[in-house]
Amino acid sequence: MAEPAATNQPWFLRGNWSPIQQERTETQLAVQGSIPPDLSGVYLRTGPNPKSGTGEHWFLGDGMVHGIRLSGGKAQWYKNRFLQTPDITDPLSDPAAGLGDLRRGKGNTHVVAHNKKILCLEEAHWPWEIDGQLNTVGCENFSEALTCSMTAHPKICPTTGEMLAFSYFNFAQPYLNYIRIGADGALKQLEGIELPQMVMMHDFSITENYVVFMDLPLALDLELLATGIPFRFKRESGARLGVMPRNGASRDVRWFEIEPCYVFHQVNAWDKDSVITLYVSRQNSAFGADSGDYSEVGRLHRWTIDLTRRTVSEQPIDDRPADFGRVNDTMVGRESRFGYLMALDGEGNSEEPVYGPRLYQYDLHTGKCAEHDLGDGTRGAEPVFVPATNAKAEDEGWVLSLVHSETTGKSRLIIVDAQNFAAPPVAMIELPFRVPYGAHGNWVADSQLQ
Ligand SMILES: [Fe+2]
Repeated sequence: MAEPAATNQPWFLRGNWSPIQQERTETQLAVQGSIPPDLSGVYLRTGPNPKSGTGEHWFLGDGMVHGIRLSGGKAQWYKNRFLQTPDITDPLSDPAAGLGDLRRGKGNTHVVAHNKKILCLEEAHWPWEIDGQLNTVGCENFSEALTCSMTAHPKICPTTGEMLAFSYFNFAQPYLNYIRIGADGALKQLEGIELPQMVMMHDFSITENYVVFMDLPLALDLELLATGIPFRFKRESGARLGVMPRNGASRDVRWFEIEPCYVFHQVNAWDKDSVITLYVSRQNSAFGADSGDYSEVGRLHRWTIDLTRRTVSEQPIDDRPADFGRVNDTMVGRESRFGYLMALDGEGNSEEPVYGPRLYQYDLHTGKCAEHDLGDGTRGAEPVFVPATNAKAEDEGWVLSLVHSETTGKSRLIIVDAQNFAAPPVAMIELPFRVPYGAHGNWVADSQLQ
């Protein structure tokens, strides 16, 4: 049953954005098609889901993780759990009293597996660890070595196993910190980088030799503190990309000016012969009316940074809005051919981010785009690529997405053959209820936890 309209509520409390309170464990799941037996693990996706049922801002809802376990060609279970963070277990009567407490994270933005751990992330605090059954383990600060917040979009190098990350949520210099965590889970480097001002930096890119920071003018504006997310787009501040060797120091950062814009998510990046290529969802600005306004949307663009000539260029790839880009994670930071994005609707007409009815598979070599139509009034979610066992080709595997039918009011996990992307899913795991629209997630293979 579709949610009743409640037009007096902000968009993130309406329709399929509205939070759910029940924690379920379902073991009888209807499956259409056949689940590839290669898929042995759990698909996890987090999102803001305020336990109080209300809230000030989309970003500030308590983290709820949804998981669907697949093994032996079967869908074994669906579970959803609130992360047991201090805002759930030890709520403050005055939320301001928790400011600066890095444990008070929500884990509501992304789920990443590293060093046999599953981390639920948001960008203003420390990560929270869960186990493969979605139980909360505890706060992760890397043996107390991490003394600042950490992004929700770290990158795990497929070659070294390092987790490279950063921190922007710092109210004093250095406004940016580079975080390098070894494959062993130990913090190897915490490098302060001074910026002209504090800016919301949602994502970054890595290549084989470099990291690339986006100093884009979504800047701190303390007059907006009461709104919960005190950032405003200040075109006059300009925009630049900062290139630093992966094991380098702040003095090594080289800055490249670009046209002012905003990017929530990159797709991938790589370097070759001193030229860095980045694919991003670029939008002209962000937070139009306020930080609850997502009417501005991104489109796939390519940035090319020539380190020798000290130039940067920008090329639009597609004029259709799309974001939440992913690649085969074995290609992160390496030259990849395929990028997977979710279409976005509602540009300019709606404050809410309207997840689109299609997924895109871009061939970055040719610019061609294959479309997967979700059908049935269904809206998408981030497309997560899972490689086949012993895959020979980059696109040998499946794209998983936890999509929602506005028609039936129910959600399903779809499994799409990436080499036959426009075809109907090879399998659909039907949930007998809805999963609210959320943020990001990942496939965590059993092998990543053993
Ligand atoms: Fe994100």
